[in-house]
Formats: sequence, C-alpha cells, structure tokens
Amino acid sequence: MGTDLDFVIFGFGGDLSRRKLIPALYELYVSGIVNENAQITALGRKDYSSDDFAELIEEAIREGKGNPPLEFIKPFSALFTYHKMDISSKDDYQGLRELLDRSKASKVIYYYAISPSLYTEVSENLFSAGLSEEKEGQKVIAIIEKPFGHDWASSIALNNDLHKFFKESQLYRIDHYLGKETVQNILVTRFSNSIFEPLWNRNYIDYVEISAYESLSVGNRIGYYDNAGALRDMVQNHLLQVLAIIAMEPPVSASADCLRNEMVKVFQSLRPFSDGDVKRDVVRAQYASTSLGPGYLEEKGVRPLSKTETYVAIKCYIDSWRWSGVPFYIKTGKALKSSSSEVVIHFKDNPHKIFSENENLSSEPNQLIIRIQPDEGMVLRIGMKIPGPGFNIRQTELDFHYSDSKDLRISDSYVRLISDAIHGDPTLYQRSDAIELTWKYVDPILKAWKEDDSIPLYSYKRGSWGPENAELLLSGKENSWRIPCSRMDSQGFCSL
Ligand code: BG6
Repeated sequence: MGTDLDFVIFGFGGDLSRRKLIPALYELYVSGIVNENAQITALGRKDYSSDDFAELIEEAIREGKGNPPLEFIKPFSALFTYHKMDISSKDDYQGLRELLDRSKASKVIYYYAISPSLYTEVSENLFSAGLSEEKEGQKVIAIIEKPFGHDWASSIALNNDLHKFFKESQLYRIDHYLGKETVQNILVTRFSNSIFEPLWNRNYIDYVEISAYESLSVGNRIGYYDNAGALRDMVQNHLLQVLAIIAMEPPVSASADCLRNEMVKVFQSLRPFSDGDVKRDVVRAQYASTSLGPGYLEEKGVRPLSKTETYVAIKCYIDSWRWSGVPFYIKTGKALKSSSSEVVIHFKDNPHKIFSENENLSSEPNQLIIRIQPDEGMVLRIGMKIPGPGFNIRQTELDFHYSDSKDLRISDSYVRLISDAIHGDPTLYQRSDAIELTWKYVDPILKAWKEDDSIPLYSYKRGSWGPENAELLLSGKENSWRIPCSRMDSQGFCSL
C-alpha cells in the first residue's frame, strides 16, 4: 500500500539520520509503504553536491542493517530533496513552506533528529510558518526523539511548550524499545496465550529482572552522555517501558488508548523513592580501566571527576494488588562483558518438594526468559526427569529463537515505528503523561545523587558484568541474577 507523504528530516547530517532513518525509510520503500508519491526533504546547514548527497544516501543504506535488496537505491534516492536552511531562523521556513505547498501531501511528518535544545524553537518556527497546522484532509505530525526533558520539571515544561504549537495527537514521542518486535511479543505472550496470565502475579512470581547490558562504552557521545548517565539514558525511557508492558493489567483491546492507559497506570503505581530508599535500593557505578580499554574518567571529553554513572541497578516495587511485594530489578550498563537485553520472570519455588533426595538434582524454580536482543526469542526453564532410577531432575529449556524460523525476519525498530507514524498509529509512541510520570519516578534518585555525597559511586571493571555491590539489592533473597547467554549451559544461573 502506498502513501502520499512528505517526510521532513530535521538534522539530516547527523548520526541518527544516517544510521537509522535512511535505512528504515529504504526498507519501507522496498516494502511499498513509502512509494513514488512520497517526498523526503532532508534539512541541514551543509552544502552538498548532488553527487555527494546521493552517495551519502547510498552509503547509509549499505551500512544499514538488514541487507534489503539494493536495486531500489536509485529510485529511492530520487524521492529525496536536500534543502539547505538554518532551522533556528524563522525566515528560512518560507523556503520549506514553498516546498511543502508544492507537494500538498495528505501526510506530513517532521522528524526531529536534532538536539533536544532545539525542539521548542523548531516547533515554534513551524507554527509561525503555518506548517504545524493540519489543513483539511491533511495529517501533520512531529516525531520527537529522546531525551524528552532532563528531569520531571523540564519534561513538563517541554510538553507545555510543544502543546502551544501542536495538538497532543500530533506529537509522536519515540522510544525505540517499543518498536522492538521482542518487546511487542511480550504483549502477545501475555495476552494471546491462556497459560501465562493466570500465573502472572504475586502468587506465582517471585521476582523479575529487566536487564540491558551493553559491551560498548560511550563512544563518541560523551558530550551528551556525561550529562545524562545510565539512569536518564536507559531507565527513564526504555527499561521503564518494558517494565510497564510486563506489569500492566490486560487492556480491553490493543488500541492505542487502551494500551497506553494501562501502561500509565503502572507508572502511577511505581512506589516512589524517598532518600533512604535510594541508598538502599539503587546502585550506581562507573567502569574502570582494564586491558580492554580506558576507564570512564579517562575517556576523551569526560569532565574531570565526573560522577556520571555508566551502570545502574534499581530495585523497584509496584504498589498494586497484582504486584504487591514482588521486586522488579532493572539493570543496565555500558562497557560490560557482552551485550544482551532480556527479561527474566522468576517463578516461585514449589510449595512442597517431593523429589528432594539429591540437592543438585532436584526441582528449581521455573524461569521464563524473554530475550529482547540479540538472538531474539524466549526460553522456558523447566525441570525434567533424568532417565534411570529414582527421580533425579535436571533443568532443561524450551527454547525458541526467531532466527531458527526461516520465514521470520526482524526489522530494526525504526522501520516499525516510522511505518506506524505513516499510518497514523501512535500505539507504540509515548504520551505526555507517560513521559512525565517516568521522569517523576526517577527524579528522587537524581536528586539524592546530586545532594547526598555519602551515596557511593561504585566502580566495576571494564569487560565485567558490573559492580559486585549491585548484589546488595538482592539482600534478603536466596536468589541471584542470571548471567545472560542465549544458549545456556545446564546451570544457567550464577551470581555476579
Ligand atoms: C539509546 C541510548 O537510546 O539506546 C544508547 O541512548 C543505547 O546509549 C541505546 O546504547 C541502546 O539501544 P539498543 O537498541 O542497541 O538496545
């Protein structure tokens, strides 16, 4: 199905546009969702010769993941118009207006691949030029990247500012984790299979781990990261979205309003942190140098003595009938041993063991492991009888890998999210109330770290699984955290 579309990229020269937007639009072109009637307007301040511009697009497609067929590059590139302008200058918007007036598309999408400090200014300039208003038969939306605000107050201020220039229904705040197939598959696992939902509560679930481990360090994004840190960069957005999907009540339908209402209810029921809780339930740390590379403080561009955390682990509680007393552990860090994002649902142990002759060969609590990436899939760990005398039990895995199914291909999350925006479906985008509530939740942690020098900033070795002190969060439990590895050995479990 084709569409009549004006797609305007603010910040064409940037990394996001090259790594994500162009490859995603290309994939959508190959699949026909973006067709010949679309115009893609790339905005930037640089001068490009038409050859350089075409080369840039081609390079972005070739570098982009997924290897879509390359024979479409030429016709796809023909959809692009490069428009040089200063997006901070009101006057420059007349040129953009002329371009858009000419095409009169029924859908106009502005993609803000720019510094968040420009979001309000650009929106105001679009508004002043009459470009944010929807005319009859036309849909106009703005897709806005994270970070959306820096804390609770700034997220409210940004929402208020943007609402002066756009209606809420026009604002698509992107969180690329929601575009991941494996994150959406959590909804399908929970709400299309009758076996899980009856167990999905405090009666059967002991604790939940939500982890996003990254082996890469901060790379060339120090300027941004040193002012953000792991809590702002990963938890306030991506990992709390995953938590909401794990913890939400069954929605009435999969419509945008129903799903987003249920997610917001989870954010409303997160137990707020007081100062003492932050000390007890949050562990922050920074990576230190090893033979694998420099420590965070030695990275080029990091402020001397920076206290920015590159790892954070949080014990969260959801105060609701369903989840009362069940800890949710969120963990994320950079420069770790390997990259892996997953959710582990740890079920409670049997109330009564009848096969307990041998400690190492008896039943263990079940686990449902949802591998978000890499090696997308799911594992259910169950006990199985070892053939032979007695009732010795070994843990085994019912293991599904998307990659084992030849007909299932997982696209980058930007493909799904941009496709949804083109179709006017905001389900996987964040509403203003969700953004504000997630900031409200992490705000006391940020405040405590800023104001209370006695809260430790631990250190962990680059290339390790993070700080051993993170285990403190498990105190009072006999359990440990799972070391992620997609094809596990029979033990699977080990402490940090
Ligand atoms: C981004 C963060 O939002 O998500 C990065 O800014 C992080 O620091 C990235 O590396 C992780 O995304 P993914 O899809 O690789 O898990």
